[in-house]
Amino acid sequence: MKNDRFLRALLRQPVDVTPIWIMRQAGRYLPEYRATRERAKNFLTLCKTPEFACEVTLQPLERFDLDAAILFSDILTIPDAMGLELYFTEGEGPRFENPIRTEKQITNLAIPDPNIELRYVTDAVSLIRRELNGKVPLIGFAGSPWTLATYMVEGGTTKTFSQVKKLLFQQPQSMSILLDKLAQAVTNYLNAQIAAGAQVIMLFDTWGGILSTQNYLDFSLNYMQKIVQNLTHEYEGQRIPVIIFTKDGNEWLENIANTGCDAIGLDWKLPIGQSRKRVGNQVALQGNMDPCMLYTSPEQVRKEVANILASFGSGNGHIFNLGHGIHPEIDPELVKVLVDSVHELSKKYH
Ligand code: CP3
Repeated sequence: MKNDRFLRALLRQPVDVTPIWIMRQAGRYLPEYRATRERAKNFLTLCKTPEFACEVTLQPLERFDLDAAILFSDILTIPDAMGLELYFTEGEGPRFENPIRTEKQITNLAIPDPNIELRYVTDAVSLIRRELNGKVPLIGFAGSPWTLATYMVEGGTTKTFSQVKKLLFQQPQSMSILLDKLAQAVTNYLNAQIAAGAQVIMLFDTWGGILSTQNYLDFSLNYMQKIVQNLTHEYEGQRIPVIIFTKDGNEWLENIANTGCDAIGLDWKLPIGQSRKRVGNQVALQGNMDPCMLYTSPEQVRKEVANILASFGSGNGHIFNLGHGIHPEIDPELVKVLVDSVHELSKKYH
C-alpha cells in the first residue's frame, strides 16, 4: 500500500498527517462525473456497469490528493436486488416500483445472493482494487437496516417518516422481521465486498437520528451491531476496520462505540474535540466539517479546517471528512483547498 494513512488512522496508529476523504467524493460537482453519467445515460447504469463504476470511483483521486477511494454504488442496491425495483426521477431522488405495503411482502422477501443478484457490485470492487494498484485503500459500504427499511416502506425520500414509523409502532414484530432480513442481507453483501477486495467497511445510517433513544437502540443500532459482529474481521492478514455513521446520532456516541466498530462518522453539530473526550480512547473519529462551508472562500475553508484540527488536537485516530455528502453545486477548486489544507495544517498535530 503506497498510502496507508487512512487505515492507520482508523486503527488509531501514528500517521504523518491527518488523512481525508469526502463523502460522495465521486459525484455531480465534478464535470468529468457528469460526462461519464451522460455516456452511461443514467445513474443506475453507472452503478450497474463495473467499468463505469470504476471510472467514476477513480475520478476524484486524479484531481485531489485524497487518502481513500470509496466504491461508487448506492445503499439502495440491496432493496433493488430484493425485488423492489429501484429507479430515480430527476429532482425527486430514489423511488421504488414495489414499496413494502403489507406484512405478506415482508415475509416473502428473499435475501439476495451477493454473488448473483449483486454481482455487478463485487465485480466493480475487484476491478477498482486492480486499477487502484495500491495507491490508497478502498472503502466498501452498505446502508443500515433501519435506513434501508425507511426507503423500502416509504417508497422513496420522505420528510415525515410516517409510513415507516406507523409500521414500527403498529407492527413492531413485522418491523423486526424486516430488519433481521436486512441485517442478514447487508452482512452477506459486505462480506462479499470484503472477499472482492474492500479494505474498510462503512455503514450509512442516514435516518437513525429521527428515532427516539430507545427506538434507535432497539431498531437501528442493535442491527448494526449484529452486522459488525458477523463481518469478516481479517482478510488476507489485514484487519478490516468498520465505520458507523449515524447522521444526527451525537447523543449515542458511547452506544455506537460499544458495538465493536473501529470508527464513528460524525455530522457537523458537535465540536469534534467533545466527541473525542467522550469516546476517543475507544474508537477513531471521522469528520466533521459542514458541507455548506464549501460554499464560502478558500480563506474561510482553511480557517474551518484549522478549527476542526485544533478541536481534535494532537494524537491519533482522526480522519477528516465532511459531516454529510458533498453538494452538487460545489466548486471543485475549493475541494482542492480543503484536501491540501488538511494535509498541510495537520502536520503539527502528529
Ligand atoms: O461517497 C461516494 O462517493 C460513494 C457513492 C455513494 C452514493 N450514494 C452515490 C450517489 C454513496 C456512499 C451513497 C450512499 C447513499 N445513497 C446514502 C447514504 C449516505 C447519505 O447521503 O446519507 C443514501 C441515503 C442514498 C440514497 C440516495 N442515492 C439518494 C437520497 C440519492 C439522491 C441524491 C440526489 O441528490 O439526487 C441517491 C443518488 C446518488 N447516489 C447520487 C450519487 C453520486 C446522485 C446521482 C446522480 O444524479 O448522478
